[in-house]
This record gives sequence, C-alpha cells and structure tokens, in this order.
Amino acid sequence: MYYSEEIVEEVRAKTDIVGLISGYVTLKKKGNRYWGCCPFHNEKTPSFSVSEDRQMYHCFGCGAGGNAYTFLMKYENYSFPEAIKTLAERAGVSLPEEEYSQEQKKRANRRQRLLDINKEAATYFYYQLRKNPHGETGLAYLRKRELTDETMKKFGLGYAGKNGAEVVQYLRQKGFEDEEIKASGLANFSERHGLTSQFWNRVMYPIQDINHRVIGFGGRVMGDGEPKYLNSPETDIFDKRRNLYGLNYARNARKGNMILCEGYMDVISMHQAGFGQAVASLGTAFTPEQAHLLHRYTDNVLLAYDSDGAGVKAALRAIGILREEGLAGKVIDMRPHKDPDEFIKALGQEAFQERIDRAENGFFYEIRMLEGQFDQKDPEEKTKFHREIARKLCNFEEDAERDNYLQAIAEKYFIGVENLRKLVAGYAAQAGNIRIMERPRSGVQQKNMAPEDGTRKSQRLLITWISEFPQLYPKIKKYISTEDFTEEFYRDVAGKLFEHIEQGNLQPAAIISAYEDEEKQGEAAALFHAELPAMETLEEKEKAFHDILYAVKKNSYEYYAMRQGSDPSALNKTVQGKKALQELAKLHISLE
Ligand code: UTP
Ligand code: MN
Repeated sequence: MYYSEEIVEEVRAKTDIVGLISGYVTLKKKGNRYWGCCPFHNEKTPSFSVSEDRQMYHCFGCGAGGNAYTFLMKYENYSFPEAIKTLAERAGVSLPEEEYSQEQKKRANRRQRLLDINKEAATYFYYQLRKNPHGETGLAYLRKRELTDETMKKFGLGYAGKNGAEVVQYLRQKGFEDEEIKASGLANFSERHGLTSQFWNRVMYPIQDINHRVIGFGGRVMGDGEPKYLNSPETDIFDKRRNLYGLNYARNARKGNMILCEGYMDVISMHQAGFGQAVASLGTAFTPEQAHLLHRYTDNVLLAYDSDGAGVKAALRAIGILREEGLAGKVIDMRPHKDPDEFIKALGQEAFQERIDRAENGFFYEIRMLEGQFDQKDPEEKTKFHREIARKLCNFEEDAERDNYLQAIAEKYFIGVENLRKLVAGYAAQAGNIRIMERPRSGVQQKNMAPEDGTRKSQRLLITWISEFPQLYPKIKKYISTEDFTEEFYRDVAGKLFEHIEQGNLQPAAIISAYEDEEKQGEAAALFHAELPAMETLEEKEKAFHDILYAVKKNSYEYYAMRQGSDPSALNKTVQGKKALQELAKLHISLE
C-alpha cells in the first residue's frame, strides 16, 4: 500500500458511504439498507444495496461490491492514491506524505518514468510538426485531411522526425536511460544501429488514457506505405484491451450515447464535426473490457464501423460483445462511404446526425446480414435462415425481450409468429443450446468462479451471518475455525473477520481494503452480503443458523476425510471434525 493501514482506515471510517454514493446514485432507504439502480451495470429495478452499518455496497445483479475506496476507483476509474486523496479531502483528514515500500516505490517510479517519457515524446513530436521544417510535410498532410489547427492541438498531433535517431537523442538529453526508452516502446535496439526510434517520417497520434495522460502512440505514413499505422507496443502503462482512443474527451460529451468506430482519424473527424462522443479501439479488435468501460458512461452504443466486408464482420462481433455486457448496440449505416471520416467529409455533419438518428437496432442488423447468406427463393435455404434466426433469438435471456424481438422479426420477414416461436422453443429445449438457462447474470464478475454449489453458499451465509451478529462468534468458535472454510478465498476473509471480532473492532469495510485487485474486493463484499433466508420467528432463525453452521462443518469434515491419504494433518482434522459434528448436532445455539 502507498499509505499506512491506519491512515487508510481512518479516512474510510470518517467517510459515510451512504453520503458518498448518494452523490452518484439515487438511494432509497428500505429496512437497514439503502437501494438504488446499480451504476455498474444496466438495470431498471434497483438491486444495488448500500449498507450503512457495514459501510459497504453490493449489487445483487452484477456482483459489484466494495467499500468507499473501491466505489470511487470503479466509478471514477481512480487509482488508489487518487481515491484516498479525494476521500481524505472530503472527510477533512490531512494525509501524510505518501509512504512507499521499496518495491512499490520502484514500480510506481517505473510507471511514472514511462508516463514521463511518453509525455516528453509527445511534446517533441508536437513541436516537430510545427517548428521543424521537415514537419511541414506532416502539417500539409493533416491539413489535406481537413483537420483544423484547433483539432490538431486538441488531439496533440505531431510529426515523428525525419529519421530514427532524433527522438532517441532528444529523450537521452532529457535524462532518460536507454533501457527506459526501449521499455517505453518508442525505440528498438539492434546491434547494427543501436537504439533507433520506432517512429519516423510519420504523423503521430498520441493515445491518452481517460485522465489525459499519454500512454502510447499511433503513427501514420503520409500517403501509401506499409504498415499504414504503426502503434506503440503494450507496456506497463499501455494496455490496449482496456483503453479507448478519444475516451478522455468522450466521457464528458454527455450526448446520451457513445459512438464506437475503427480508426484514429474517424474519432478525430467526428469530434471536429461536433460528435465528441466518438471513441475507437486501438488498432486491435474491440474487447469485452472496452465494452465494460463504455458501459460506465452509457447504455447506448452506436457502431460506426467501416461499410466494407471487414467492417461488417467487426460490427457483428462487437454487437455480440456489447450484448454480453448488457448493452444493446446500434449500427450506423455509412454507405455509400467507407468510414465516418469519409462520410462527414463528403456529406457533412447534418447528414451524419441523420444517420445517427436512423441507426439500426443491432439485432435487426445481425438478421439482415444473415439474410444475405441464404437464397430466399429456395425453401430449403429459407428454412435454414429461419432456424438461424431462432437460434439467435435464444441469446436473449429475458422472456419479454425475446418475445418482442421474435414478433418484430416475424413481421419483418413474413414468418408466422407461432412457427417461429416453435422453432425457438425447439432450440431452447436442446440442452447446451441456450443461454437462458446456463448463463450467470453478470458477465464480468462471475466468470472466474466455480459453479455455485451448496457448500460455497453455506460458507458465504455463515460469513454474512457472523458479520451481522458478531456476538454469535464466541458461542460457536469452539466448533468452527477458518479451516472449515474449504474455499481458499473464503477462508482468508473468514480469518480476517474472526480476527476483527477477537479484537473487538469489526469493520467489514476495512477487510475489503486488504485486497488489492478489484475482483477480489467485489468478491469479499459479496461474502458479507449473502442473502440470508427469510425467517420470521426466533425459532426459525435459530434453526436456520444451526443448519448453516452444521452444513459448513459437515462439508469440512468430509473434505478432510477425503484428504487423509495426501495431507498429514487431515487425520487430526477429521477426528476433531467428527467430534465437533456430534456435539453440534445436539447443540442449541441461542440467538438472543
Ligand atoms: P483503417 O485501415 O480503416 O484506416 O484502419 P483509417 O482509420 O481509415 O485510416 P485513414 O483514414 O486511412 O488514415 C482502422 C484502424 O485500424 C488500425 C488503426 O487504429 C486505424 O485507425 N490500424 C490500421 C493499424 O493499427 N495498423 C494498420 O496498419 C492499419
Ligand atoms: Mn479512413
């Protein structure tokens, strides 16, 4: 951690999570929790809960969860230091000078150095374009492409220098080591030429993260030449899967949608024409991570992909990825032009706005593209087409949504509604063919988790229950220990929970801070938010608690019994487990 645990905890304790989140999400109090629509996935009925007692949030829909820190980090895309600075300021706590461990200092320094190099290089390229006589060819090229000076400035466009040595020299002068220059991806080393710039005689497009920091470059040849664009390789600061070109501006465009396109020039042209909501993936195919990133800012993604065959293919792929993320993509028709840049140049801004307004529903688009693959005059082919439609309809999880599409498509393609419905039902019945049954609600959070089973559930319930009623712990600690949590991550969380209780200071939200990556934090929050069975009477509650406790113990007994051959400590645990189980069976635990 960058800050001591004490200060991290002090800032957190002085923050009211309900107040914090209320600034972003409308919350309503119900029982002892606050509820609202989850800001991390698209939903219309609230399944996002914030607990005042525990100072945590958890979404029952998508599994997102955590404390005040994780909320800001996720919502604002802050780093931890950024989050703690914001919260400290809000709570009126003054932070000590940042404390780094050696290792962290090295890593943070490394990242900072890479950012510094990229920034220096961007400045260098920027001035080459404007001040160096050679840069004139670059400037002429960009002007020919109808970019205004203002646009070039906004996007920090530059020129890479006439040969491969210049920028390297410049960076050395600025005090960067060869090794660092190489690590930044700006230059390559060869025995023959030493360190030479990756980019020369190209116009340069700096790639910025959402905080406007330069993390890499795309460089275009002026005119024809291969490759058309050369991009920085991935580095410690440049992750192509998780960044989108133009998002640093688009995130504040507030147009009610985001436009996703293929190219740097497309983004720049659209911004110049007033479509500041345009972003592009970075010389790679659109990724689920990018879909997730977009979802943070909009529910409404418009695809402005090239109108050629490759563009159609890419659009179809993107629609699928967006759907996985719970986003309904729409497709902007660029024909007869190739891409947004060319469209806007040829037909202008108003015509483009019209195309935006007429963007086609992603599913309709998919079906229309499918239609062309079948000879509609041949009954055999036509039937295949209808079957394919039915198969695709199965991708809709929600009955109402699926049926709405079914009816719309049936009408559009003159298919009997009932016939199509039967086809869909047929597919749905084929095991493995349908997602309606197999797919977890959230795309992201649950991907890495083993299938849900009773054991995991009981362990989760027990953690939630003990965290809600810590006074139970002394009554049961004789029978249950961290070792009974056979799921490794659960065991870890339970260990921390028990420690907190022993110390007489239970702060579930602080437990979350102990985990560094976002997914773990979300999982930890989920452990404190298991849905306890609905129970009315005290008797029911006591029975439910007893059942859960017993189930966890029994599982652990069986778990160790099976491992006696391989684990020397298992025999002991099995014997003790058996004894504890016998005692537990007879035990009455009072919840009063
Ligand atoms: P396109 O070939 O469609 O180029 O590539 P473009 O965006 O229309 O570029 P202009 O208008 O000719 O300048 C789309 C995107 O694919 C990536 C780049 O991100 C580009 O913007 N690309 C393309 C590469 O990374 N390398 C290449 O060689 C070509
Ligand atoms: Mn183009």
